[in-house]
Amino acid sequence: MNDAAPPTPPPSSCDPADFIRSQTVLARAPLVPEFRLYLATEITPIWRATEDYLAREGIDPPYWAFAWAGGQALARHVLDHPELVRGKTVLDFGSGSGLVALAAARAGAVVTAADTDGLARAAITLNAAENGFDVALAVDVIGADEGWDAVLAGDMFYERTLAARALPWLRALARRGALVLAGDPGRAYKPEDGIVECARHDVPTTRELEDREMRETVVWRLTP
Ligand SMILES: C[S@@+](CC[C@H](N)C(=O)[O-])C[C@H]1O[C@@H](n2cnc3c(N)ncnc32)[C@H](O)[C@@H]1O
Repeated sequence: MNDAAPPTPPPSSCDPADFIRSQTVLARAPLVPEFRLYLATEITPIWRATEDYLAREGIDPPYWAFAWAGGQALARHVLDHPELVRGKTVLDFGSGSGLVALAAARAGAVVTAADTDGLARAAITLNAAENGFDVALAVDVIGADEGWDAVLAGDMFYERTLAARALPWLRALARRGALVLAGDPGRAYKPEDGIVECARHDVPTTRELEDREMRETVVWRLTP
């Protein structure tokens, strides 16, 4: 569902916003068509070359350029149940493109989007502006507690070290009463217990990204 022409070669400037605009197209995530996001798609052949370049330079993979299945399911859940976050303070942990943050903002929350990748934070800013929402930014929030009413984690159980750091923190937030929701399509480091199913969605994806065309994805609530 692309709304724009394919991207052009990378710009010579180092401006993150220019880089993002040149490497992506404005498109809609299949399960969350409410938003237009700067996304890489399979019609973006230059993307693979750019990814190789980023790997050589030691820059983070461009997670921000995709709406991951976990994030799509979680964003859908928040949009379908706005009462979960309306009028509340919400942290989108590992925000990537900012999709989950945008869903929470649209549902009426005051939102902070956290991502350790500077390009992701630039993408979140662009995507928030494109859709007319305000989202505050943060970097590595693991271990922090700003008193958020809800913490949302879209597709964050994909890496052992990250999950091992994040889970005790997320549990502590749940223990003090925060609503902690995670969208997960069965990644390797999803917790096996202390989770309650809230919703289940078939999320259209691409073979290029996930090796299959659909991923069954669950929205879990973490218990204390
Ligand atoms: C698989 S992507 C998920 C993005 C988005 N939530 C979604 O579902 O589309 C994981 C994101 O987490 C970010 N990330 C990794 N470690 C992090 C940390 N300690 N704090 C904040 N963000 C982190 C990555 O930069 C990346 O953007």
